[in-house]
Amino acid sequence: MTTSSVETRTIRLENPYIPKLAVVEQVITETWDTKTFRAVFRDADLRESFTYEPGQFQEVSVFGVGEAPFCLTSSPTRKGFIEFSVKKIGSVTSALHEIEEGTVIGIRAPLGNWFPYEKFKGKDLWFIGGGIGMAPLRSLLNFCLDNRKDYGKIYIVYGARTSADLCFKYEFDQWQSSPDTELFLTIDSEEEGWDKNVGFVPQYVMDLKPSPRNAIAITCGPPIMIKFTLKNLEELGFEDDQVWTTLEMKMKCGIGKCGRCNIGHKYVCVDGPVFSYAQLKELPPEY
Ligand SMILES: Cc1cc2nc3c(=O)[nH]c(=O)nc-3n(C[C@H](O)[C@H](O)[C@H](O)COP(=O)(O)OP(=O)(O)OC[C@H]3O[C@@H](n4cnc5c(N)ncnc54)[C@H](O)[C@@H]3O)c2cc1C
Ligand code: FES
Repeated sequence: MTTSSVETRTIRLENPYIPKLAVVEQVITETWDTKTFRAVFRDADLRESFTYEPGQFQEVSVFGVGEAPFCLTSSPTRKGFIEFSVKKIGSVTSALHEIEEGTVIGIRAPLGNWFPYEKFKGKDLWFIGGGIGMAPLRSLLNFCLDNRKDYGKIYIVYGARTSADLCFKYEFDQWQSSPDTELFLTIDSEEEGWDKNVGFVPQYVMDLKPSPRNAIAITCGPPIMIKFTLKNLEELGFEDDQVWTTLEMKMKCGIGKCGRCNIGHKYVCVDGPVFSYAQLKELPPEY
């Protein structure tokens, strides 16, 4: 047996349940219930070689508490670190909200499929996000902005309950100052000093009337927002394969072994989390 075949076998036998160690380098408070974490792998080689695709996710462990899946919100075009945003809802997310810069966490990544950005080339892109749902879209958005010439016009429709619930405010200027890129913000009800749109995201999409011609829509947000956004895009003439979303089913293993995340015959952790509306329509309506 040659040295290289021994190395190959060693890599294949790696236990996929064992996380890699990473250090939280920066914690950004986005809103009262959401924080973004920037982490770097402790292993220098892994830090350099690690890569992923926009739309993929990871399992993050807080030692002594547990593990939970989060999408990678950073873009693979920006190397050396990964970022994920966490809304506090239960045990792991609360523990993450307590950690400080310098804390070591565990990461199993990259997991799942990704947005088919090669197919999106040359098309106008509508990013339609609600609340923390902007997190997976941000990875693809910044990826497209970093490869700006490959895509047509970029429109970002982003809404939240209040202006204080909008994440990634520190990137808004950069987004809207990119060539041929427009940012449309909306909040649910009137607020003093707010001069942007007021109303729910699906209705705002109807008001903006995106043309389906040579366009792709990518949406993520609360289930009710996704439901009506998909319906409205259909009404506007978008075909089912022009609309993409990403699902956040409950998960355990993240690698297609435990059966926790299935919808019909699909495992969201390996067949997803990214699906076109056409693909979703073939699944039982359990998402
Ligand atoms: C592919 C994927 C990507 C995700 N990306 C993000 C992300 O970028 N940011 C983010 O904040 N969250 C994301 N989530 C959701 C996140 O994984 C859950 O919020 C997290 O697992 C909750 O863990 P916990 O221990 O804090 O909650 P627990 O203590 O386990 O549960 C608290 C409560 O939340 C409910 N709950 C737990 N998980 C989910 C879920 N997935 N869907 C609906 N209800 C749930 C439980 O039933 C319970 O009522 C993602 C989920 C998936 C599957
Ligand atoms: S989370 Fe285990 S099969 Fe998907």
